[in-house]
Amino acid sequence: MDIFEKIKNNRGPIGQHAKESHGYFTFPKLEGDIGPHMTFRGRKRLNWSLNNYLGLANHPEVRKADADAAAQFGFAAPMGARMMSGNSNYHEQLENELSAFVNKQDTILCNFGYQATVSAIDCLVDRRDVIVYDAESHACILDGVRLHMGKRYVFKHNDIEDCEKQLERATKLSEETGGGILVITEGVFGMRGDQGIIKEIAALKSKYNFRLFVDDAHGCGTMGKNGGGTGVEQGCQDDIDIYFGTFAKSFALIGGFISSDEQVVEYLRYNMRSQIFAKSLPLPLVVGALKRLELMRNHPEYREKLWEITRALQSGLVEAGFDIGVTNSPVTPVYMNGSIPEATNLIIDLRENYDIFCSMVVYPVVPKGMIILRLIPTAVHTIEDVKYTIDAFSKIVHKLKSGQYMADKIASV
Ligand SMILES: Cc1ncc(COP(=O)(O)O)c(C=O)c1O
Repeated sequence: MDIFEKIKNNRGPIGQHAKESHGYFTFPKLEGDIGPHMTFRGRKRLNWSLNNYLGLANHPEVRKADADAAAQFGFAAPMGARMMSGNSNYHEQLENELSAFVNKQDTILCNFGYQATVSAIDCLVDRRDVIVYDAESHACILDGVRLHMGKRYVFKHNDIEDCEKQLERATKLSEETGGGILVITEGVFGMRGDQGIIKEIAALKSKYNFRLFVDDAHGCGTMGKNGGGTGVEQGCQDDIDIYFGTFAKSFALIGGFISSDEQVVEYLRYNMRSQIFAKSLPLPLVVGALKRLELMRNHPEYREKLWEITRALQSGLVEAGFDIGVTNSPVTPVYMNGSIPEATNLIIDLRENYDIFCSMVVYPVVPKGMIILRLIPTAVHTIEDVKYTIDAFSKIVHKLKSGQYMADKIASV
């Protein structure tokens, strides 16, 4: 079989719809300054689809710091991997400041959040070790687990009893192999918005011997006192042995980091393949991250505003009769029932007639017949944006329920 022949005939679960969806449902272009009002296909839309939680993406001080750093250093510097020639005082300063921010001894910077998690999992475990992980983990955790050459056990999402059952199995096995156990979960699950059961898992440390890895991509900057993360929020940050944060969300940048004990971070620095065999983060990104961190620390009002908008959006949706599931973070899913063609028509109506842009999730990501509209509130949305959206959602759900989005009424864009 020729590889190209194979991919010509099988375009993948999402790629098979590329022809109809490209540019509108997939790969849409949101233009203009990042914020709640952006241009899509030539018209301003109210945008709820970006993880710009604290509104830093277009903050004037951030824009200036980014521009100044780009002018001063360029994007080439430093050249090479950190270990060889790509280190700088700024990289080390950012690592120190991040450690203080998330209450850990030390931190290693990574070029992408996704790559950080994959590579850290790969680096921490060997074939004798056992991984126990949540079933609804993000792709980067799943891919890190896929690289693992030893055993892995998955527990039902946020189910502490099943987690303990898998820990029992892992303990038995690790006693035979002489390996250790790594438990992996998330701070905030990005699809449903529910927090991981970190505190409950951490409590199992009194019975089982394991280390806890938490991917807090959505929680870093949004959760806990001063935005220090979901472990801070749940009062168990010290029980998280390996803490992961990304710059792709609250920081509105690119890159990621892993924080842990000094000894663990030193091990990662000298052994994590994605860092020792790849170029380090460009200086403008590092200097830009320092500026964002300074703003996060000195302006708690951004996080307070995020939560004010979150509470208004979530309580308003519930009062209007919507099902938002079990979220206890800013991530706001709105669950509806309908077919994929109905979901398609609904989104077109929402975008073209109400000028609202949000993400939609349908089968195969969620069960057949379920539609999730996912709203991400930010500190730069307003209460008027919230009210307008709930009103529009009430109208579209009425149309959905009365069959106005059925397949034979397919709209065109
Ligand atoms: C839970 C989770 N982990 C990891 C990542 C990857 O982070 P990044 O976009 O920085 O690669 C994301 C974001 O997409 C995420 O939502």
